[in-house]
Amino acid sequence: MDDFLNVIRNDHHQFDKGKLEDHFGNEPFALMARWLREAIEKPASEPNAMMVSTLGLDGFPRTRVVYWKELLEEGIVFYTNYNSDKGRAIDAYPQVHALLYWPELERQISITGLAEKVPAEMSDAYFESRPRGSKLGAWASQQSQLLTSRDELEKRVGEYAEKFPDFVPRPEHWGGYLIKPINVEFWQGRPSRLHDRIVFNLKPDNSWELYRKNP
Ligand SMILES: Cc1cc2nc3c(=O)[nH]c(=O)nc-3n(C[C@H](O)[C@H](O)[C@H](O)COP(=O)(O)O)c2cc1C
Repeated sequence: MDDFLNVIRNDHHQFDKGKLEDHFGNEPFALMARWLREAIEKPASEPNAMMVSTLGLDGFPRTRVVYWKELLEEGIVFYTNYNSDKGRAIDAYPQVHALLYWPELERQISITGLAEKVPAEMSDAYFESRPRGSKLGAWASQQSQLLTSRDELEKRVGEYAEKFPDFVPRPEHWGGYLIKPINVEFWQGRPSRLHDRIVFNLKPDNSWELYRKNP
């Protein structure tokens, strides 16, 4: 048992070695891509699961997990139902916050940004790549709306399966959101709670300023 714990301790120690002390670059995207790749390679469990918080119409923030599906030059993309609670919230307030947490790497990335719908062609392309069951689910689920019974949902899946025996088109209410970051913080756990926090902040001239924060 002790040996086992030692292995884990050593593993953590390895990741404490100055990962955030060099080569930050002058924009956050390269480091985001590197950390995602390293999370996949680790492998971290659910490396692309991220918490996305929105501002509700009632003023309360709400957070849920979605999958980070694309990394573009301008930001990161997730897919969802545009009529869901999060979709309606973003329509009203594009200000969102996204959080990636990889316990295996003692890392988190905290992203403040503005969300916007991606072009329809991008949503089409991703939708097309999904399994048939997920495609039918996107039609059948009125995400975040009240559901009277599980049967009702499964009945709707059956109806859409009949309606679309072969090709399942993308529902217009389903697609991607691009989160364009304005502030990105990379957090690396360090011994004695003296963690590294490196922040990229977007300036009005569209360049990124870089600074450290106290842990
Ligand atoms: C690991 C995980 C991944 C998820 N990925 C997505 C996703 O990519 N898109 C999505 O709409 N919901 C996803 N969900 C479900 C959401 O967390 C949430 O329940 C749903 O989107 C409804 O949220 P809303 O009512 O706040 O809009 C995921 C849940 C988990 C636990």
